[in-house]
Amino acid sequence: MNNPIKNTKTLADQFMFNTYARFPITLVRGDGCRVWDEDGREYIDFVGGIAVCALGHSSPLVTKVLTEQSRQLVHVSNLYYTRPQAELAQLLVENSFADKVFFCNSGAEANEAAIKLARRYSGEKYGKDRHVIITMKGSFHGRTMATLSATGQEKVKTGYDPLLGGFQFVEFNDLSGLKQAMNPSVCAVMLEPIQGEGGVVCPKADYLKEVRRFCDENNLLLIFDEVQVGMGRTGRLFAHEHYGVTPHIMTLAKALANGLPIGAMLAIEDLSSAFGPGSHATTFGGTPLITAVSKAVLSSLLKDGWIEHCQEMGEYFKGRLLELKKRYDFIIDVRGQGLIIGVELNREGASIVRTCMERGFLINCAQEKVLRFIPPLVVTKEEIDQLVDTLEAIFRV
Ligand SMILES: Cc1ncc(COP(=O)(O)O)c(C=O)c1O
Repeated sequence: MNNPIKNTKTLADQFMFNTYARFPITLVRGDGCRVWDEDGREYIDFVGGIAVCALGHSSPLVTKVLTEQSRQLVHVSNLYYTRPQAELAQLLVENSFADKVFFCNSGAEANEAAIKLARRYSGEKYGKDRHVIITMKGSFHGRTMATLSATGQEKVKTGYDPLLGGFQFVEFNDLSGLKQAMNPSVCAVMLEPIQGEGGVVCPKADYLKEVRRFCDENNLLLIFDEVQVGMGRTGRLFAHEHYGVTPHIMTLAKALANGLPIGAMLAIEDLSSAFGPGSHATTFGGTPLITAVSKAVLSSLLKDGWIEHCQEMGEYFKGRLLELKKRYDFIIDVRGQGLIIGVELNREGASIVRTCMERGFLINCAQEKVLRFIPPLVVTKEEIDQLVDTLEAIFRV
């Protein structure tokens, strides 16, 4: 089509809802940790599609599997079995605490499935009054009505009342608050092992273990939302592995297929009977095309050393950022695990994000004051050095 509107920003602003506060660049190409805009400017990408492109942009592996599988079979619906879907489920189960998997299309949908499963299981087992899910202040679980209702941040909820009932909020990292919130209607506790959108907030030592113990003592289900921090991001396949604890249910999305839309809800065997035929479904969930890619991505993370690389790069990156913290007193904290790192400032970070972009680096800011780094896991020491040197030059002025 010979489009008379040449400028992409103009085109998008005219024809699309303005739901995203976008940066004024149009990206056209990517390779590894680098992306290029339509004017040919190169950026080193420390956002990675918001913790999605773990194996980097234009991964040859993804391209190969996508091409081969698209020639074979793209979609047939979940009325029929398809091999890639079943094999991806097997791989996830064999590498996690879980026994069963449900596939969907996004993180929010995976959390919807988790909420539905927890309520259905608890309702069948203990009666329908037991349906409340305790979630955390500062959490983020998605933008559908149920996951928005579960989210512990007021700013994303404005204007959508009435939200879904049955969620109760407590402070993250506060076990006594959780205990106080307990009542007979509670069926589950849902949390992110590390809060991503909340500003890279890590759990205190033993907090997650104590939460699990509390759940066990009260017959509650524990749901871990690993949509952002799962799939190798923290230097282990799943973030909860760092803390010696497993949940009953876990949700995944983002990096699961390196950029193709997929979500997954994993659970222990005990819960499987609550999700029988007709109980939950989605047209696109786990298509052969996307699950074939996801299986290749997960296999590569497991066998090609990317998780170990992530751990090594994460430690190096954090070390360099801690050096900056010593020199600049407006840095309050440097925290994170593997390649999800937050640098908390005593001021807003938006201008630093903008200046980084002008100098050829994409970074992100969460909760206004926390610079968040979530690059592809294939990032190199040299790329980390280039970014940290640039940050230092920006901080110096
Ligand atoms: C922890 C967590 N859960 C859920 C979601 C929602 O995922 P999606 O945007 O794929 O619906 C996100 C997205 O940022 C997230 O970080």
